[in-house]
Formats: sequence, C-alpha cells, structure tokens
Amino acid sequence: MAGATKSEWSAKNPYYTNIIENYVLNGEGSRKETRHIVFELGDSGLDYKVGDALGVVPENPPHIVEELLEVQGWDRDQIVTTHNGERTIYEALKKDYEVHLASKKFVQSLAEKVVSTGIKITVKMVSRSRAGQQWSASEQELLPPELAPSAPSDSPAEKVEHLITDQKAMEDYLWTRDYVDIMREFSAKYSPEEFFELAGRVKPRLYSIASSHDAHPGLVELTVGIVRFSYHGRDRGGLATQFMADEISTGQQRVGVFMSPTKSFVLPKETETDIIMVGPGTGIAPFRAFMEQRVFDGGNGRNWLFFGDQSAKTEFYYKDTIESWLDGGHLYRFTTAWSRDQAEKIYVQHRLKEHGAEIWEWFENGAYFYICGDKTYMAKDVHKALINIAIDHGGMSESDATHFIEKTMMKEQKRYLRDVY
Ligand SMILES: Cc1cc2nc3c(=O)[nH]c(=O)nc-3n(C[C@H](O)[C@H](O)[C@H](O)COP(=O)(O)OP(=O)(O)OC[C@H]3O[C@@H](n4cnc5c(N)ncnc54)[C@H](O)[C@@H]3O)c2cc1C
Ligand SMILES: NC(=O)c1ccc[n+]([C@@H]2O[C@H](COP(=O)([O-])OP(=O)(O)OC[C@H]3O[C@@H](n4cnc5c(N)ncnc54)[C@H](OP(=O)(O)O)[C@@H]3O)[C@@H](O)[C@H]2O)c1
Repeated sequence: MAGATKSEWSAKNPYYTNIIENYVLNGEGSRKETRHIVFELGDSGLDYKVGDALGVVPENPPHIVEELLEVQGWDRDQIVTTHNGERTIYEALKKDYEVHLASKKFVQSLAEKVVSTGIKITVKMVSRSRAGQQWSASEQELLPPELAPSAPSDSPAEKVEHLITDQKAMEDYLWTRDYVDIMREFSAKYSPEEFFELAGRVKPRLYSIASSHDAHPGLVELTVGIVRFSYHGRDRGGLATQFMADEISTGQQRVGVFMSPTKSFVLPKETETDIIMVGPGTGIAPFRAFMEQRVFDGGNGRNWLFFGDQSAKTEFYYKDTIESWLDGGHLYRFTTAWSRDQAEKIYVQHRLKEHGAEIWEWFENGAYFYICGDKTYMAKDVHKALINIAIDHGGMSESDATHFIEKTMMKEQKRYLRDVY
C-alpha cells in the first residue's frame, strides 16, 4: 500500500463511506475543538500514500436549512432541478448549495432589486409618506419606483448601496451574517430558483491525511479543527467541519470522500535521510502519518518533530503515540512550543531559532524540512526563521540565505516542502 493508484472515485464521483471513530483530541477547558476522525475505505479500492489529502463532501447543517425554509416560506417537498438533477428543495438546500455563509452576489442581488424596480425589496422600516400618502411596510413591497418611499440615510437601499461599493464594509457585513440573517434584515423574498442562481455550489474540502495506510489498512484518518462561531444569537461555523463534528455520528450516516494525491509533499526516497517536521495545531496531521510510515519502513533516518498549540494541558494531540515513538527511539527529537502556557507567546519559529545551530548541521547533512498548518502567519514566520538560520549559522548574507532557502532547498533540491492552508 505504498502509493496511491488511479481510482474511479473523485470529487465528482465520491465514495460514500462510514466514519468509525470521531473524538475530540483536546483536554477539558480547551478553547478549541480538534477531532480525530477515522473513515473506512471498505470495498472502494481507494489507496493513498503519506502526504496525500482526503477530499470530504460536506452537507449543510439541518438547522440552517430549516431556518431558510421558514424565512422564505418554501415548500420543502417541492421538486426543483439543480446541477445534480431533480430533488426536493430540502435536499437541494442540504446537499447542493453552500447556504451556511452568504455570497457577495446575494447582497448585490438585493441592490438590483432595489435599483431596477424599486419595489421588490420589502424592508423593515416605519411607514413614510409620499405626496400625503401613507404606505405600510408590506405595501411598500408593491410600490412602483416613482412612488417608492424616499430613503433615509440608513435606508435599506442605501445600506445595500454602501455594502456593494465598499469592499471592506461588505466583508465585515458578511463575516457575521448568513442568508437567514440577511433575508430577515431586509425581509427579502426569493424564489428557490432565484436563490440557487445566487448561492455557491457545495465544494469539497481537503484534509491532510494523518495516517499511514500500511499502519492502518482499510482506513484513512484525519485531524480536523472544527470551525464554530456565533453571531446575532445564532450558532454557525464551517461547513465541512461542523458536518463531520455534528452530523456524522459513527456508522450512522455515509459521507462522500475521495483521494487528493500529492506529487511534492512526500518522504525522502532514502529511509536513511533525516527529516525535520514543523506542524503546530492541525499541522501535525501529515507528520503523524510520516512517523507511522517511517516506523513501518524501518531505516536509520532521524526524525525531529516541532509541535505546539495553545497549552500542553489541553492541546497535546497524540501525546501517548508521540511518547511511544520517543521511547522506541523512532522520534529522535521532539520540540514543543506551547503558546499560552506562559506570559509571552512561544511559537515554533522561536524554537527553530533556539535550535538554529543544530538545524543548520542537519541541513548540511542533507535533511529534509517539512512544514504544515496555517499559511497566513505561521508558515511565513517559519520561512523567515529558516532564512535567519542560514544567515546566523551558515554565515550567509541575507540574499544568499534567501537564495539558499527559496531556490536551492525548495526548488532545486526539493527538500523544503510545504502543506499549508
Ligand atoms: C491541502 C489542504 C489540507 C488541509 N488539511 C487540513 C487538516 O488536516 N485539518 C484541518 O482542520 N483543516 C485542513 N485544511 C483546511 C480545510 O480544507 C478547511 O478549509 C477547513 O476545515 C474549514 O472548512 P469548513 O468547511 O469547516 O469551513 P468553511 O465553511 O469553508 O468556512 C470557513 C470560513 O468561515 C469563515 N470564518 C471562520 N471563522 C470565522 C469566524 N470566527 N467568524 C466569521 N466567519 C468565520 C471564514 O470566511 C473562513 O474562510 C486543509 C486545507 C487544504 C487546502
Ligand atoms: N478555513 C478555515 O476556516 C479554517 C479551519 C480550521 C483551521 N483553519 C486555519 O488553519 C490553521 C490551523 O489551525 P489550528 O487550530 O490547527 O492551529 P492554529 O490556529 O494555527 O494554532 C496553532 C498554534 O500556532 C500558534 N500561532 C499563532 N500565530 C502564529 C504564528 N504567527 N506563528 C507561529 N505560530 C502561531 C497558535 O498560538 P496562539 O493561538 O496562542 O496565538 C497555536 O499555538 C489556522 O490558520 C486556522 O485559522 C482554518
């Protein structure tokens, strides 16, 4: 089971399988919810190598689907045609469109309704007079443009106009509101077909595989950080992570998966080669897989893992397994960075700097360097730390150090490899 083979299963034709284990890795009192999730591969013939990712096809949370049906007054059993064929509105909302976060297109559609007709948008505002006439809120829905009430500075029309002309305002607005909030705020009514034109189609999410297929035949395992937030009195969060955390109770419901093989994020061919792995938070996922594979394959290459998260008490994922690798001599070094266990933040890049001389020795000896996890901040800071190690311990100028890390190690020798998101 050393390599992924071409498979009939894909994002368009996922294999529907069971989750057989699904548990929280965090200790009590943690601010996070990170789960270990195990899928069966059954008779799919699906195979993978360490470093690959698993695609997961998510579904929308039932409570949001119910709220949408209620706020729009749609008949859940009405048959509609979507890109996936004929199905009920309920099924279309649950499986075909991303209805958990609102699209910019949807907010823009509110403006079109206001601007083009001046009548379709029903707004929650007090009645105002025009030419001596009083219009109730529901009557305003039917007004022709020339009779539409003049908008006060915070009128819904102006509000929408502001949102579509100010990108930052739009982003801030959408950050805390979904379709249900917006539809309620503007009392806006859409036909299902109109809404489906505006909502994005459900897209699968990728997860770095946290297991070696050799060590866990017939299974594929993930380390998933669940995304949850609450605004305007309503709980919501990430589509795929909530689906896996809340809906897929083990063995009860099937979930669509497929393999996303990597060409680049791979172990060195020689088992004698040393590797350094930097994977804070969920970034540990592929390194659990790498370690399992290195143990399975044997060989004398040394393995050095940098891991960290908020606190050793609550985020020490896979502690027993890591300790058993250390006891067995499989993990040569294990360096932790617990960011919130002391007054000042300690991150993996601080630990890299502290161990700079030794890391440089490993590099000179041909070691591979791997990083996985947050792309926006952590990966950039670790990248800078590597350049500084080349300056401080390789005696290089800044431009030579940058060239060494970015061109020599990363592009030519392909031994600085990243899986960041
Ligand atoms: C190659 C690859 C490997 C990956 N591996 C892993 C892995 O091993 N483990 C893992 O956990 N993830 C991994 N990811 C990330 C994963 O694919 C998903 O992006 C992640 O799980 C979120 O998906 P979701 O559907 O739950 O969230 P989505 O529905 O996609 O929602 C996320 C969006 O929610 C919004 N959001 C987030 N927080 C808030 C907030 N507080 N308030 C308002 N809005 C907010 C943001 O717009 C954010 O982009 C990987 C990604 C890639 C590309
Ligand atoms: N698309 C999504 O919505 C989604 C879903 C899940 C995860 N993610 C992202 O995926 C990444 C991984 O999340 P995660 O929960 O596994 O871990 P994480 O949020 O990256 O946190 C792991 C550790 O990294 C620390 N950290 C914060 N900033 C850092 C920096 N600049 N350099 C180095 N370390 C830093 C954190 O410390 P502190 O927290 O104490 O600062 C924590 O100790 C994050 O970016 C997260 O936002 C995104």
